[in-house]
Amino acid sequence: MANPTKSEQYEQLLTQVKALIDPNCSWLANYANICAAIQDNFHHWWCGFYFVNTNNQLELGPFQGPVACTLIPYNKGVCGSSWAKKETILVPDVHKFEGHIACSSESNSEIVIPIIQNNMVIGVLDIDSINFSQFDEIDQHYLESIVELLPEIIPVTS
Ligand code: SME
Repeated sequence: MANPTKSEQYEQLLTQVKALIDPNCSWLANYANICAAIQDNFHHWWCGFYFVNTNNQLELGPFQGPVACTLIPYNKGVCGSSWAKKETILVPDVHKFEGHIACSSESNSEIVIPIIQNNMVIGVLDIDSINFSQFDEIDQHYLESIVELLPEIIPVTS
């Protein structure tokens, strides 16, 4: 059988993500499983979430891959820019993105999708690749669909 196309792989992933989301679990458990599912299918260099914290910075959440930067200010790096612009950012060559935050020297391209809930960016999904130009409109389309499925984050209040 021919290798599945990228769209076919994403269709499978979407089905898997819908099945994985467990309403009886915390949002944290669900987000952790979802980034593992993306990695299981695509084996990128790094895949994970950052969430807006109470100091108005992006703070590292569940992820798969090497250790990463823990805090990213608003409008800084690709993640902070996606947060500020409220839109997906595709970066074919991270070395040409002004202000890119290099958590790893192995990363060469990146896609960041904002997670918008109740009209506010509450975090981002960030994926890094060692390949240049790894991500395109197909990735954007499907990853935005996955992000729309994410359960609402219940902020931790004291
Ligand atoms: N490169 C990102 C930082 C996060 S790491 O890639 C995991 C950025 O420029 O915002």
